[in-house]
Amino acid sequence: MTFDFAFFEKSAEYVRGRAPFQPEIAIVLGSCLGPFADSIQNPVSIDYAEIPNFLISTAPSHAGKLIFGTVAGRRVVCMSGRFHYYEGYDFEQLTIPVRLFKLLGVKATILTNAAGAINTAYRPGDVMIVSDHIKMTGASPLRGANISEFGDRFFDTTQMYTPELREIARECAKHSNLNVHEGVYFYFTGPQFETPAEIRAARILGGDAAGMSTVTEALTAAHCKMPLLALSVMTNMAAGVLDAPLSTEEVDRTGEKIAHEFSAYLTQIIQKIGETI
Ligand code: HPA
Repeated sequence: MTFDFAFFEKSAEYVRGRAPFQPEIAIVLGSCLGPFADSIQNPVSIDYAEIPNFLISTAPSHAGKLIFGTVAGRRVVCMSGRFHYYEGYDFEQLTIPVRLFKLLGVKATILTNAAGAINTAYRPGDVMIVSDHIKMTGASPLRGANISEFGDRFFDTTQMYTPELREIARECAKHSNLNVHEGVYFYFTGPQFETPAEIRAARILGGDAAGMSTVTEALTAAHCKMPLLALSVMTNMAAGVLDAPLSTEEVDRTGEKIAHEFSAYLTQIIQKIGETI
């Protein structure tokens, strides 16, 4: 497969033809955070399968739709269902969603995910504003021929989680019942949950939460200089923190419990970001 500018533009051209407007903010909904999609007003959705050169989401609890609509009066596009390396996609393919947002004229992207708490001061149901990440896997989504229309071959990542957007998320946390932290996301490819030894190592290295998504999209955003906010929901304590095995049921249960509160928090953030872009 050749990933050149025309490849990405083909998806964008199709979506522009079906979208009701040019979106200002893009939101990617992580595992169990799907219920936010129900709060989108005047929704117009496009199935991923209909979009040329797009991907199909295979993960459970990921719907597989691009939804256009308004939230707090802002024009948004929301990905209900995202793509992960563990589904079999190459890192390069995982650039597709954020590049589509860029080509649609999106001015800020919000990534959300479910994660395991490495930091023992965190609790299930807490939220972490991602300040930085650690990715120990060698591969990068930006490997291969550089597409200069999106960005430079070598690009800065020191402020890829946009400080101004993190400040907005911290401010909005004051008006939320959620317990909100700021910390480092440690990327694991999955699909297995981590081993207790991996989590201990990640803690020593400075990780606060472990997850299997977000970083590929975040790097794509950094490459095309897209302002970015990433929010992790702690659905469980990471492997070995408690003397109990990890399960998808636990992840889903916590996700469901905080879905309403998290949607309200996200809505506030969207409103505030909308005032600044
Ligand atoms: N590890 C990785 N990904 C996750 C976890 C976890 O503990 N919980 C939810 N997503």
